[in-house]
Amino acid sequence: VSVCVRNAGQVLRPPEDGLPYLRRGNDLRLEPGAVTVRDGLIAAFEDDPAADVIIDARGGAVLPGFVDCHTHLPFAGWRAREYEQKVTGVPYEEIARSGGGIASSARALAEATDEAVLAQASALREEMLRLGTTTVEGKTGYGLSVEGELRSVRLGRALGLDRVTGLFAHAVPPGVERTAWMDEVDRLAAAATVDALDIYVESVAFTNDDLERLGEIAAREGVPLRAHVEQFNANRSTPVALAAGARSVDHLACLHPDDLAPLARAECAAVLLPGAEFLGAEHTPPARALADAGAICVLATDCNPGTSPVASMPVIIGLAVRRYGWSVREALAAATLNAAWVLGLHEERGSLEVGKRADLIVLDGPAEHIPYRFGHDPVAAVVRGGEVVWRRP
Ligand code: NIG
Ligand code: FE
Repeated sequence: VSVCVRNAGQVLRPPEDGLPYLRRGNDLRLEPGAVTVRDGLIAAFEDDPAADVIIDARGGAVLPGFVDCHTHLPFAGWRAREYEQKVTGVPYEEIARSGGGIASSARALAEATDEAVLAQASALREEMLRLGTTTVEGKTGYGLSVEGELRSVRLGRALGLDRVTGLFAHAVPPGVERTAWMDEVDRLAAAATVDALDIYVESVAFTNDDLERLGEIAAREGVPLRAHVEQFNANRSTPVALAAGARSVDHLACLHPDDLAPLARAECAAVLLPGAEFLGAEHTPPARALADAGAICVLATDCNPGTSPVASMPVIIGLAVRRYGWSVREALAAATLNAAWVLGLHEERGSLEVGKRADLIVLDGPAEHIPYRFGHDPVAAVVRGGEVVWRRP
């Protein structure tokens, strides 16, 4: 099967082929053109009038599909009541301490059948796909028991997530000692097959020592280490994560100024989550400075029922451009190739290059309209693995 997208006003391409990530997003090129895909792969940047399917881009942009490298799928239910509490003045950490937060989503997950969890998560994935996200990572973390976490891994696989991360160290289960739970995390990491390990370091969760220990566990298991750090406080977890060889540090709203330059130099991505920052009225990370210093900057939705019930990468890009002072191309690099690198998928996805998997989206206008027409859904068509999986009616 072949698909040809023609009459694009802009085709987003890297400055050269084979780059694992971009430390300068502005190196991306946006030029008019066409893309032809064949047998699931990008075949050429030219028109093919004989293609089986022709999509007229009508002057709009063609981009690689978005890569959402940080979500908390699968989860059960939502927590809208807590959001209302939060905006009317109750801090997240207090909500968490009083049985809300992660614990309440853990109860909801435990009470939901596999079918119900998969139905909700599949619907969300479908929504993400229509909004241009062709690759999705998800995390465990609402299981909150050994069996619950193993079930989450299984549900994540059943959902067909592109990557399943073991966030076994998300919250300390009620009635368990933190260090005793870390022993369980160690056993879970050995027992479960996951694509990466993650931890939530915060006053209400785990410590820098636990992060160091998870780094050893990840090295032993041969999987990348990722970490939720500096979300509500400057815990100085970033140097610990860097020393442990982390693939990414995520959140960073309270990144300590002294930790910025080492992070920017490291081969470790700065995954920024402006949905959580905006909806939680969190601090804003030094995103402009990180980009200027050449960090591997990444954007993701953090889609979860607590801090960021957001599924839309276009909305995330809109928030980032406005709040971080990033150019559109900086935000696009962060939402595509750099995010694919976090997941170890950069060789086959994340940018439009001949031979890469044909994951691309056609927008109804220029790329600059994504942040500018904030809240508008710009996605007119989605091609994943060479197949047209969504076309706006
Ligand atoms: O990435 N910070 C920790 N974990 C999630 C929130 C989880 C929840 O509140 O349910 C996050 O923001
Ligand atoms: Fe998260």
